Amino acid sequence: MKFDRAAQTYDADFTNTPIGRLQRNLVLSYVDAVLDKAPDLKILELNAGTGEDAIHFAAKGCSVSATDISAKMLDNAETKAEDFGLSGLIQIIRCDMREIANQDLQMEYDIVFSNFGGLNCLSPSEIEKLSEDVLFLLKPGGRFIAVVMPQYCFWESLYFLLKGKSRQVFRRNTNESIPVRVEGETVKTWYYSPARFYRLMKKNFRKVKLQPIGFFIPPSYLGPAFDKKRDLLKFLGKLDRVIRVIPFLASYSDHFLIDLERVN
Ligand SMILES: C[S@@+](CC[C@H](N)C(=O)[O-])C[C@H]1O[C@@H](n2cnc3c(N)ncnc32)[C@H](O)[C@@H]1O
Repeated sequence: MKFDRAAQTYDADFTNTPIGRLQRNLVLSYVDAVLDKAPDLKILELNAGTGEDAIHFAAKGCSVSATDISAKMLDNAETKAEDFGLSGLIQIIRCDMREIANQDLQMEYDIVFSNFGGLNCLSPSEIEKLSEDVLFLLKPGGRFIAVVMPQYCFWESLYFLLKGKSRQVFRRNTNESIPVRVEGETVKTWYYSPARFYRLMKKNFRKVKLQPIGFFIPPSYLGPAFDKKRDLLKFLGKLDRVIRVIPFLASYSDHFLIDLERVN
């Protein structure tokens, strides 16, 4: 299964890296502010990966249905849930998010959550279908909070420009899928501008928030360049916290966070 190979190194390559932590903390500080207003929520997590966010939400008292297509990713999530004594709050479900409507899930979730580009594995028509599918799983007024990769990334363009790879500078800027290599496997990836992503969802959702994630914090593959520049990275992390109130920059960051409220 795709992503099973990536599961072996995902936490070492991303989750536990300084860049991975900075980007995730930025996402979680947004979601925590939502959770703090109404604790003990029911969360459906799509593409939960190795369960990092599920553990975080469960530790705050939420009950989480953590879903993913990769059995190996979910094995890691299950081990973490056991290690943290949080298995009672985390239900692990292996499924393709394109089939989410056919799962035997609890209804009435308060939040559907997807972090770090899992939704970039879906085509525009699949995103539209997902927006209909999750409608039946969310409470009225429930939230769909997603972290998605946009069609431009300032850092990435700068990196390719400096390397003289001019054809790669705007590689994300297409409405077609791009084959992306993930640990020896090819994953079809669609990049979405925040406006396009919202257009695909807006029939059933209203936009609450759009926030850049990783405008100053670089993409994780640039991590080695910052190995000896931890203070600079920390500073970039602080800058990202300052500029998170500028939605315009969401279009040029490594990821953007979009918070949508169910209206239908
Ligand atoms: C970049 S990882 C993000 C993992 C996790 N959300 C995180 O924050 O670390 C993308 C995840 O999407 C999952 N994924 C990809 N396509 C999927 C699909 N069609 N249905 C469910 N999960 C999928 C992969 O297995 C992988 O765990």
